[in-house]
Amino acid sequence: MSTALLHKAYKGDLFKEEGNDLIALLADHLTKTKEGTPSKVTRWVPPQVEYDFWQEYIKEKHSTKEFFSTLLERSIHTHHPKYIGHQIASAVPVSALATFFSAQLNNGMTVYEMGQASTAIEKNVIDMFLKAIGYAQGDGFLTSGGTLANLTAMLAARKTIANDDIWNDGHNHKLAIMVSEEAHYCVDRAARIMGLGSEGIIKIPVNEDYAIRTEVLETYYDKALANGRQVIAIVGSAPSTSTGVYDNLQKISAFAKAKKIWFHVDGAHGGAAIFSSKYKHLLKGIDQADSVIIDGHKMMGTSSITTAVLFKNDVDSYTTFEQKAQYLWDKNDDPEWYNLGKRTFECTKSMMSLRFFAIMNAYGTQFFDDNVTVLYDAGREFGTYIEAHPDFALALTPISNIVCFRYIGNLHPEAYEEVNRKIRQTLLEDGEFYIVSTLLKGEFFLRTTFMNPFTNKEHMELLLEKIKEIAVKIEQTTINI
Ligand SMILES: Cc1ncc(COP(=O)(O)O)c(C=O)c1O
Repeated sequence: MSTALLHKAYKGDLFKEEGNDLIALLADHLTKTKEGTPSKVTRWVPPQVEYDFWQEYIKEKHSTKEFFSTLLERSIHTHHPKYIGHQIASAVPVSALATFFSAQLNNGMTVYEMGQASTAIEKNVIDMFLKAIGYAQGDGFLTSGGTLANLTAMLAARKTIANDDIWNDGHNHKLAIMVSEEAHYCVDRAARIMGLGSEGIIKIPVNEDYAIRTEVLETYYDKALANGRQVIAIVGSAPSTSTGVYDNLQKISAFAKAKKIWFHVDGAHGGAAIFSSKYKHLLKGIDQADSVIIDGHKMMGTSSITTAVLFKNDVDSYTTFEQKAQYLWDKNDDPEWYNLGKRTFECTKSMMSLRFFAIMNAYGTQFFDDNVTVLYDAGREFGTYIEAHPDFALALTPISNIVCFRYIGNLHPEAYEEVNRKIRQTLLEDGEFYIVSTLLKGEFFLRTTFMNPFTNKEHMELLLEKIKEIAVKIEQTTINI
């Protein structure tokens, strides 16, 4: 017997009313933030204070409308043109609607029966990626984020290249993966999850342009062999997270072929440049990779979290996990492209294909071209302003929408780190802009990523002015400088 409470929770009229309120709230928020009307991108509150706030909040009654409204005020606004921080898309409304739709429909996706339309749509989305990359015999699927996608691709590499049947027998000898020292930390994490240990992740140094040094690959490979390791894969970053620099995929591919090892491209951030007629040249050689991953929720405008894992050879898309699950599927030998649970790490998976497809349906793949091109142009433009400004120095000329720089003013080089750390913290607490920071070759830099296609020259100039103002105040109040 159902209860009155359950009836209330599932009432269609209430859903309509609260849903309309929510869409009105978000649409209004979008219009205002896009214009930069709210003065703050974020309002910084220490974690414990925020925790206490919500602990108190739940003790009192609030309407759902009030709840969302309070939540909005206390969230970071990624649609604000002064949001130039971490790599997360300003979600396209139609993609957010698709996410909302799938959140309510909740089709499970493990097997075809539990998500027929979204499974077939997923295959169409994958076809779009395969065509753009140039994989004539490829296949793939969507998974929950770049971190999991990289792990999945590394597991496929191990299955294909390692001498042992590790899936069934466990590890009998030591394996290793080669990757740039600038690669995203999740590649290191994947190697450790796979039981490769510290020595199983071979970090290749970068050159002065922050790309992997391809001329030393042979040396590192030989050393690994001498240490009793079988190298199963090499990973190219497209681009690396801190700098936005693309590794030379053609050279890595030639090396991988010569050594008969797996070549994987981590294109979580910039693999989407494959859709940009202006910037796809950065990915030259990507079609030679055995596997590629591309995040939708970074450069393709989708809401989080959705990542494509793509394989050059369709069979590789099916070999990673081999498991019997009689209550889900009968045939273990048949690949059954439509039973996605055979191939994905997830069992239940959200209907993430809709997030791409809603954009494709509304705007075509041209949307992805426009988005990547506008954002990469913005990063490069910001680079030229910094270069021309005597108080600032670039870490490197930006290649993409990621720009690393620091305030130098009249500072002694020994004070760069202290002052720039204080600048970043002051900006965070102030909230008008959101930017982040990174360490490059041990040195501290401010880091911006242009994720919002409405961030323009005016915002860039205001940011530099603001940093300068903050720096001058720091210089006046800090005795160490
Ligand atoms: C190059 C690269 N790979 C992987 C990841 C991890 O992706 P996700 O955040 O989707 O797990 C990131 C995230 O910033 C990244 O920049």
